[in-house]
Amino acid sequence: MASTSQAPQSGARAAHPEHLGHVIFIAAAAAMGGFLFGYDSSVINGAVEAIRDRYDVGSAVLAQVIAIALIGCAIGAATAGRIADRIGRIRCMQIAAVLFTVSAIGSALPFALWDLAMWRVIGGFAIGMASVIGPAYIAEVSPPAYRGRLGSFQQAAIVVGIAVSQLVNWGLLNAAGGDQRGELMGLEAWQVMLGVMVVPAVLYGLLSFAIPESPRFLISVGKHERARKILEEVEGKDVDFDARIAEIEHAMHREEKSSFKDLLGGSFFFKPIVWIGIGLSVFQQFVGINVAFYYSSTLWQSVGVDPTDSFFYSFTTSIINIVGTVIAMIFVDRVGRKPLALIGSVGMVIGLALEAWAFSFDLVDGKLPATQGWVALIAAHLFVLFFALSWGVVVWVFLGEMFPNRIRAAALGVAASAQWIANWAITASFPSLAEWNLSGTYVIYTIFAALSIPFVLKFVKETKGKALEEMG
Ligand code: GLC
Repeated sequence: MASTSQAPQSGARAAHPEHLGHVIFIAAAAAMGGFLFGYDSSVINGAVEAIRDRYDVGSAVLAQVIAIALIGCAIGAATAGRIADRIGRIRCMQIAAVLFTVSAIGSALPFALWDLAMWRVIGGFAIGMASVIGPAYIAEVSPPAYRGRLGSFQQAAIVVGIAVSQLVNWGLLNAAGGDQRGELMGLEAWQVMLGVMVVPAVLYGLLSFAIPESPRFLISVGKHERARKILEEVEGKDVDFDARIAEIEHAMHREEKSSFKDLLGGSFFFKPIVWIGIGLSVFQQFVGINVAFYYSSTLWQSVGVDPTDSFFYSFTTSIINIVGTVIAMIFVDRVGRKPLALIGSVGMVIGLALEAWAFSFDLVDGKLPATQGWVALIAAHLFVLFFALSWGVVVWVFLGEMFPNRIRAAALGVAASAQWIANWAITASFPSLAEWNLSGTYVIYTIFAALSIPFVLKFVKETKGKALEEMG
């Protein structure tokens, strides 16, 4: 853990070790939404072939059924901020938990393709909500000195969720004799894969009852006594609470109610800070990270891996993703968010450029020549590692803390929604782009990774060690 000596600048407070355990529990419980985010968005990969077969649909329809969930994510993210500002962060988590549960049951037992798509949209809506509420809530309950590390629990949970869904799918597939439609517990294996999500969804709901409401939300609705108790729980008893509450309240301009209008301003519709949040989101997706996850088996096969082994190799990508995330968690409060983002961008440019080079060679029997094959594999892992130790964690941490209190949830909602739309644009366009020119596709991602460097240098402000009341 970071030593308290590195912590506070103005307004920021050192954490009290005796409260840290409790805060870690709170952040981990809230990050369960991140786990569901990772699990739900990746579980579908194990069910795709079965869905194609059972409903007898072509690739184009299938791709739409899968991609439509991302639209649900965008709508969920856009609305979560408003819901969280009206009824509180915890209630918002509870709504998401119910939607996750309903969607898991519905997706496991669909009547037809249309209602499967509908359940996936509902699950997407819940993912979108969780993607907003986790970072906002964690930033709001964390002591400033540990906020980066606690905020990175969200991304850690996302990457673990992705890895666990791969493992569960693999286990279930094996149990069903290697056939996604094989029988398992009276259902087809793919149905069980989608249904298993009920377990973390219910756990998320239960955990939300064990954690306190955000003190900043409570102050915004005038519940000072409850806010004081919670601040005591997370920051210790020797803090001057009246000053603290006054400070938070002052920063919120309580007398005016926050609304969507507060996000607007300047000559470009949104306030500049909202655009910076949107920019961070869009760059995070436009480097093509989810292509590395959603289409990993295509990559493995082009370097000669047998399709039946591609699970194992996709799983290695997930492990690298986890390793990178742990590295980021160690450094995010030490070196700060900006340096990590910049290091990551440089690493991603190198990884992506090497992939572009490797794929510029002609495939022979669907495979790259040996040297280029190895370069492509190593470069893909390098790219995921550098993404994970930087933009994966840093963007969610930034989005949780960079906005002023008053507009935090709403602005984060807009930025996260933009991120889901960007995710959809990249994943939906990849198959056609790859058909056009795979190397050229990687060149495009390389250009975005390179452009992210001047973007961060020019527009993004470091948030490390600052109190949330100093943001804006
Ligand atoms: C980040 C991205 C998400 C991606 C994940 C991969 O959370 O927002 O789109 O799937 O990282 O680790």
